[in-house]
Amino acid sequence: MTVGGKHVVVRPARQIGGSLRLPGDKSIAHRYAMLAGTADGTSVLRNFASGADCASTLGCMAALGCAVVRDADGTVKVEGRGRGLKEPSGPLDCGNSGSTMRMLAGILAAQPFATEMRGDGSLSRRPMARIIEPLGRMGASIAGEDGGRPPLKVRGGALHGVEHQLTVASAQVKSCLLFAGLLAEGVTAVEEPQRTRDHGELALRAFGAEVTRERNRTTIRGGQPLHAIDAYVPGDISSAAFFLCAAAMLPGSRLVIDGLLLNPTRAAILDVLAGMGATIRMLEVEERHGELVGTVQITGGKLSGARIAGAQTAALIDELPVLGAIAAYTNDGIEVRDARELRVKESDRIAVLATNLRAMGVQIEEFEDGFRMAGKQRPHGAKVDPAGDHRIAMACAVAALGAEGDTTITGADCVGISFPDFFSLLERVAIR
Ligand code: S3P
Repeated sequence: MTVGGKHVVVRPARQIGGSLRLPGDKSIAHRYAMLAGTADGTSVLRNFASGADCASTLGCMAALGCAVVRDADGTVKVEGRGRGLKEPSGPLDCGNSGSTMRMLAGILAAQPFATEMRGDGSLSRRPMARIIEPLGRMGASIAGEDGGRPPLKVRGGALHGVEHQLTVASAQVKSCLLFAGLLAEGVTAVEEPQRTRDHGELALRAFGAEVTRERNRTTIRGGQPLHAIDAYVPGDISSAAFFLCAAAMLPGSRLVIDGLLLNPTRAAILDVLAGMGATIRMLEVEERHGELVGTVQITGGKLSGARIAGAQTAALIDELPVLGAIAAYTNDGIEVRDARELRVKESDRIAVLATNLRAMGVQIEEFEDGFRMAGKQRPHGAKVDPAGDHRIAMACAVAALGAEGDTTITGADCVGISFPDFFSLLERVAIR
């Protein structure tokens, strides 16, 4: 692999081998940092996520008056201010991070001051009506541009609990409303159409709040105090997915990842890969602050294929690009449906993935809500452009490992959004 400026050249690999431990999970790190800021005392968050997205959250918390210290070993300390965040002196910069904007808006909605939240070009195109409407019903006033796009002007105030039915399965919106509900008067209930990741619920409990769940309905009572925690953020399973998929698709690969997040609402990628024929063993599984953590060993083999739809699509939402990347190397192909949400992620992930895989010679059928690729195709190296989307850049790198010839990924430094060390770790485990 050659890294030149923002271009990375990925050479094909025979196998993946070795062992890895990954930086902390992005979803959990965002939530821990936000709740730490609204807790009493100083929280110590070990193995914090290393990417720019969680740095955006830390920057916002610092701007809201929480002292944030980051050590070289990945430990972050956040001083909590209880309910009383400080009015920031200017707009909050959420960078590329939809999680920062959507979830933090729930906390800002309850503060006695107005805040503006901004983001980069990609974030400025993402839909925010899904939080603006329910937070408005709770008593906040939030104004967006152009039918509910960032920047957002949040005028906080006294909130009251509401019942809210999510129209799209979104864990960010669920967490946003639970965070607002914690700071509201009365009870807030959020009902989701499909079960999404439950880190918001687990994090609230870890910080001392009571959250109840009955089927897909989650309830929180307002006014509960939070206390600081000392926690280890488990390795990011959505980052691991790139290595797991690469190992699964290259027969003879054997990879071990320890300290990995294995929360059942996030681990669907393991079921899919095992269902297609990879051999997966889970060892030393334990619970930390409500989250399951353990060691995964994967052995690659001939993969069959998969059809992913409905609740499984929601559970795999961040892993769909990399499943698309390995589809051509399977026996029977992969079809993904019910994935309209992919079109409003950091990029239109269906369109950008399709364009790049086509450049690599893959035949792909694109649907409004997904894609289908036949198996037994023979991708070749190409010049690809992930359009600034970190998960598309990493998915292209995985596709490149099985292709004939080298692949050049332009603008590859976008992996820094979630996984700055991705290419160096890939180089460490790629066997040529
Ligand atoms: C996330 C939820 C998902 C996911 C995102 C992180 C979270 O987004 O795509 O990367 O941490 O709650 P949605 O809530 O928009 O589905």
